[in-house]
Parts: sequence; structure tokens; C-alpha cells
Amino acid sequence: LENGLARTPPMGFNNWNATHCRADFNEAMVKGIADIFVSRGLKDVGYQYVNLDDCWAKTSRDSSGNLVPDPVRFPNGIKAVADYVHSKGLKIGIYTSAGTKTCNTAGFPGGLGKEQQDANLFASWGIDYLKYDNCNNQGVDAQQRYKAMRDALARTGRPIVYSICEWGRTNPKVWTWGEPVGNLWRTTGDISDNWSSMIGKAQANRGLAQYAGPGHWNDPDMLEVGNGGMTATEYRTHFSLWAIMAAPLLIGSDLRKVNEDTFTILKNTDVIAVDQDPLGRQGTVVSSSSGRVVYSKVLANGDRAVALSNETTSTQTISTTASAIGLGGGSFYTLKDLWSKQVRTTSGTISASVPAHGTVMYRVTRNGSVSRYEAESAVISQGV
Ligand code: GLA
Repeated sequence: LENGLARTPPMGFNNWNATHCRADFNEAMVKGIADIFVSRGLKDVGYQYVNLDDCWAKTSRDSSGNLVPDPVRFPNGIKAVADYVHSKGLKIGIYTSAGTKTCNTAGFPGGLGKEQQDANLFASWGIDYLKYDNCNNQGVDAQQRYKAMRDALARTGRPIVYSICEWGRTNPKVWTWGEPVGNLWRTTGDISDNWSSMIGKAQANRGLAQYAGPGHWNDPDMLEVGNGGMTATEYRTHFSLWAIMAAPLLIGSDLRKVNEDTFTILKNTDVIAVDQDPLGRQGTVVSSSSGRVVYSKVLANGDRAVALSNETTSTQTISTTASAIGLGGGSFYTLKDLWSKQVRTTSGTISASVPAHGTVMYRVTRNGSVSRYEAESAVISQGV
């Protein structure tokens, strides 16, 4: 959606994976996350949105038809929380559904037929991001319902990132029509905090690169890093693959409770830079053989990010070459390992021994070949 927003994939937090609808999703949590974004340097490395998921509202609208915040979870309302989040230099998001009710069985009211009223209310609270789900939609055409909220958000005049939470249950598939409608759309069902769920989302999302770009991203769902159901190796794979696929990086763990490994993973600025690369290309699969998968992503300065990803349960040697990732013609190449930080050179082979469920990620730079264009530019800039 060309609304000037999400020029790179959104980064932030959403409570759903950590709390679902439980009582610990409340004002103290949202403020606590905002505090940690600042105190632990997450804001400094690019995390910006603090997003509220389902279950923030009462089950009925007020007499004017407005949504009402749950008075137990949010005794001071959403505007007060938004003001707090904004006071930290961060942004805030909220959730509802393009149906009569949201997806939770408690029956929270949805936005169908109330799009402008709800958009206006969100804007009046200072909301910066809306996740709009697809439950209880009464069979009304998905494009019609999602365009209605897109237009309602635009009419508020407030910049609001628009996240389509529809993942291909309807035809035509959302990624084929999402670009002019939303800033991101789900490509998979809900992630769970285990290896098979996470790698399944990556497998489903990795063939959809052609649909992604600045302002319009594929969304294989939010991060589980830190929730405890995977090993640190698996969480590094999760984070690496989301980055090389230019996926949104929405932290899904309660940062008030996570271990230091979690912060180390989430704050890997080299991997974040791959995700946030300004060219905005989603990486693609270069080769895939018996669970040894090579991904490559073109970066704005001409480098490539490469992920050597081991989906098997034993150590594997995974290999590719500079020419296979579209970087042929150099006399040598620099490989920076984005997790170990080691730098080495190669004449063209890119290979590593990768532990079970692990991913080795490199930034690859071509050296020693000067194209005619580069040579001429150098001559011009030196004034020779
Ligand atoms: C759907 C979405 C989830 C979450 C829940 C809330 O399942 O896909 O991400 O928002 O609804 O009910």
C-alpha cells in the first residue's frame, strides 16, 4: 500500500504469542515492553511498534457504537497507554477483525460495517498500526472488506500501518491482491513455539518473494524467539530466515521475563540490516536438497545475504557459490558470518558445516573486480 509507511518491514512487538488472551496482557505489560525497548536498546536497533492484539476490548460497544477498552486490563483506556508509548518515542498498534466479531471465541466486536467509526476512534487514540483479522466475515468478499478499512484509515488523515491478517483462506490468495490494499499480509496460519511450526511457515513463505517490496510485505507471522519452545540454535534460524525473507520482525515474547540469549538474538544488528535493507527485496531459495536449503537476498549496495539452513536433525555441510547467488566475476569474495562475526575470504565457494536445525548466515561482498562502469565513475569522482 503506497501510504508512505512500512518502506522496510515493520519492527516491534505484539503480545499475542506470549499471552494469547490471558490476564497478563494488560496496561502494565504494554508499558513494561515500551520501557524495555528503550532501556535494553531495542529501540536503538530499530524496534518501534508496540502492538496490542485481540482481547483488549469489552464484548460490547457503548451506546454510541464505539469500541470500549476492557476496564480490567486497561483501566485508563487505550489513549493513556498510547500517550505513554509515544512519550518513549515509540509507536502503538491495535487489532480488530474485518468481520462482525474478532477471532477469539469470547466474541469481541469486529469492524465490518463500522469501519469509519472504528478507524476514527483508533486515530483519536493515536494508534499508528492496525492488524485487521478475517474472522466472522459473513462471507463478504475479502477484497471489499479490506479495502473498506484501508479507505477508512486513509480518511482519518493519520498515518496508520495497515496489516492484513488474512493468510490465503480466500481466493484469489491475498498476496496476489494485497499490494494496493495493505502494508503487509499474512501468508500462513498461526505460528506456534516449536520447530515444525516455525520451519513450516518459512517453507510456505519463501516462494512468495515476487509479491514483496517497500510498502507491501509478506508476513509469515510473528516471532517466537524467547518463548522457550525452541533451542537457541532454532531461534537463530527463525530470526535469520525471517530477516532473509524481509519479514516483519515483531517480537512475540514477554521481554520482562526472557533470558539474555533472547536479547542477543533480537539485537543482532547485522541480521536486522539484512531484513531492513532499503532495496526491500525478499530473499529467494537458490537450492534445496534433502533439507539443506540455501537462500540469497540481494542487498542495496550489491552485496548478497546468504543463509545456509539445515532443516535436518544432523550436522550437514551446505554449499553454494558466488556465481549461483548472482555475484560471479570477482577475483575473491569477503564473507562475514553474521552470527559469529568472523570474516574470511573465498575465491567463490560459500560453504559451512551447519548443526542440526541451525543456519549460518553470511554477508557476501565481491572484491577484486572493477566493472567498466565503476572504473569510469571512479575516474570522474577523482576529477582525472
Ligand atoms: C488470529 C490471528 C492471530 C491472533 C488471533 C487473535 O488467529 O491469526 O495472530 O491475532 O487471531 O484472536
